[in-house]
Amino acid sequence: MNRRAFLHLSASSVALPSALGGCGGAEDPKPLVESPPEAELVEATVSKGPWVTILGPGTVRLRFETFEDVAVPVVIHVDDTRSELVTTTSTTNVAWAWGYEDAPTEEDLPGEYTLHDIIIDGIPTGATLEWEVQVTGLPAGSCRPNPAPSDPITVCWIADTMYPKSESVAANALLMAPDLLLHGGDFQYSSSPTDTWTSMFANLAPLLRSTVFQVCIGNHEFDGDVETSQMYDRLFSGQGSSDERWHAFTYGPVHILMLDSESGDLTDPAGAQAAWADSALSAAVAEGLIPIIAFHRPTYSLSKHWRSDTTLRDTIHELAVRHGVQIVFSGHVHGYERFVVDGIHYVVDGGGGALTYDLEEAFEEVEELRPGESDLRQVAERTHGCVELIVDAGSVFVNRINEDGETTDSFSFPTG
Ligand SMILES: [Fe+2]
Repeated sequence: MNRRAFLHLSASSVALPSALGGCGGAEDPKPLVESPPEAELVEATVSKGPWVTILGPGTVRLRFETFEDVAVPVVIHVDDTRSELVTTTSTTNVAWAWGYEDAPTEEDLPGEYTLHDIIIDGIPTGATLEWEVQVTGLPAGSCRPNPAPSDPITVCWIADTMYPKSESVAANALLMAPDLLLHGGDFQYSSSPTDTWTSMFANLAPLLRSTVFQVCIGNHEFDGDVETSQMYDRLFSGQGSSDERWHAFTYGPVHILMLDSESGDLTDPAGAQAAWADSALSAAVAEGLIPIIAFHRPTYSLSKHWRSDTTLRDTIHELAVRHGVQIVFSGHVHGYERFVVDGIHYVVDGGGGALTYDLEEAFEEVEELRPGESDLRQVAERTHGCVELIVDAGSVFVNRINEDGETTDSFSFPTG
C-alpha cells in the first residue's frame, strides 16, 4: 500500500504550498513532494513545547509557543514521506506571572506569546511521526501517534509535577521509553513561587520530544484569576474531539477518558460529562478496546485528600463496573496509593514532584465514617514517582516507579 496516498497534511488557516496538494481528503489523495526546498530557520525562540496531542484516529496536533509573533515552518516526516508546513498562529497578551528572578526555576513572565499549531491527519496505522521546528535550536522529536490495536504500547501516568522533584521524576519516566504521556493535572502550584508553567515544560521537554501528550485539568489550574484561561485553556484546549475540559482518545489497544474532576458536573450521574463518558465507554468496549478512566482528584484515599462525599466516587464506580473498566488513574495526592474495589484498580499517584505528606492522615476518619474501607487499600508509599502501564500479549502490566527508579508496586490483568 502506498502510504503517501493516505497521508493528508493540513494547517487550519495557513495555505499549504501548492506542491503539497492542499487539503484533499483520502477520497482524492494527492502525493506529497518527496524533497521540497529546505526550510530556512526563523529567528524565534520556543518558550513552551513542542508537544503532540491526539485529536482523533490518525490525526494529531503539534503545538508550541514562542516569544515572537511570526509563523514558523515545520518539517514533518511520516515514515518515508517528508513535508513542510507553516504554523497557524495565535498571539495572546498574557497577564499571568509567577515565580521570582533568583528562584531555582524559571519565571512565568507576562507579555505577548504566540501559540503555533500544525494539524497532521491521515497518519497511517503504525507510522512514526518525526517533526523538526525550523527555529533557532531546531527543536525536534518523534512519536508513534497511531499504533495498531495489536501493537504493544507503554503509557506513563504522571501528575502534580511541582518543585522540588518534578525534574527527577520526569527523568525516571523517560527511562520507561513511553509512547504516551498522561498528565493528571496540577502542572504547577501557586502556593510556591518555585513552581511555574515554564519550569514544568522545561522538566517535561525530553518526554514531550518522544511521546504523545494528553492532559487532565487539576484544582491548581484554577489558582490564579487568569491562570485557567491564559495558561491551561490556551495551552491545552481542543484535545481529542472535545471542546470541553474533558476528552477521550484511542491509542492502539486502549481508549482513555481524561475527565474533569474539578467542574462538579462529574458528580452528577445525569450530568453532561457522565452521560458523555457513558457513551464513550460503550463505543470503546464495542470496538474491543481496553477502557481506562483518568482524572485529577481521587475517589479513594486515606490521606488528607479523602472524601466524605461519595457522589463522584459513585458516578465513576458505576460507570467502571458497567463498562468493564479495570483501572482508574488519579493524582492530587502527593504520593502513591492503590485501592482495589470490586476488582477495579484505583491507582492514585500525584507523586510527580511536589512535597509528599502523610498518607495515613485520614485513616481514623475514613474508618469511622466507612468501617472497613482502609482494607481496600493494597499499597501506599510516601514517595515521588510515576506509573508505567504496558499493554502487550493480551495483558495489561502496571508498575509504580519511585524516585529512585525502583519498582515498588506491580499488578497485571488480562485485556479480555
Ligand atoms: Fe490537586
